[in-house]
Amino acid sequence: MHGSKTMVRSLLEGILAGSSAGGHADLAVFPPFAYLSLTESILSGTHVLWGGQTLNPNAHGAHTGETSGGMLTDMGCRYVLVGHSERRSIYAESDDDVALRFKAALAAGLEPVLCVGETREEREHGQTEAVVGRQLDAVTGSVGIQAFSRAVIAYEPVWAIGTGLTATPEQAQAVHRFIRDKMTALDVTIAGQLRILYGGSVKGSNAAELFTQSDIDGGLVGGASLTAEDFLAIYRAVA
Ligand code: PGA
Repeated sequence: MHGSKTMVRSLLEGILAGSSAGGHADLAVFPPFAYLSLTESILSGTHVLWGGQTLNPNAHGAHTGETSGGMLTDMGCRYVLVGHSERRSIYAESDDDVALRFKAALAAGLEPVLCVGETREEREHGQTEAVVGRQLDAVTGSVGIQAFSRAVIAYEPVWAIGTGLTATPEQAQAVHRFIRDKMTALDVTIAGQLRILYGGSVKGSNAAELFTQSDIDGGLVGGASLTAEDFLAIYRAVA
């Protein structure tokens, strides 16, 4: 819940100016709903894609204040975040809710970005794999592994989001490997092609080291996406 029309315009124009099609990485932005229309008008026909930050699991109906997957598709979205830790913790989205939203995203023709990750307490109790495994099982059990040929996973340790604490490349890689192995057990081809992003205080200074890990395929960036300069430093680190 950051930004304004002025900020969104200058951010997107800055990102467009500092990146290129066929450049270092594929780029997508996830503005608040209020700025999707503006985003569509600025990014249509460019190399930068966009998506929503969440969606309602229902296709339509009397759900005041909510936004459906079909509405996101209508606004030109390619992606939608599902199960971001703030949705899980502040808005009490359960694993089952997340699975329903994932399903609704697919039904609307969107590519869901499924966010998973453990809290600090869960990590300290050695429950990281159990928690991430449970979050993945809720979705694969509901939609099946084939659905992941059109989805992205983002591993975001809750303790690293917006805190300035980043998982070390080794800590992140270990969980990414765990996720890849879990998906491989279900379908080798899909697991091999699956993009697994790391999120949690990614910035220009730590991105290169994170991205060199074999199972880290990119980043989901929060704070450092609020200025074009900080975001582009991460984009350049991909090279
Ligand atoms: P951060 O946020 O990069 O500010 O830690 C990540 C996120 O909210 O997904």
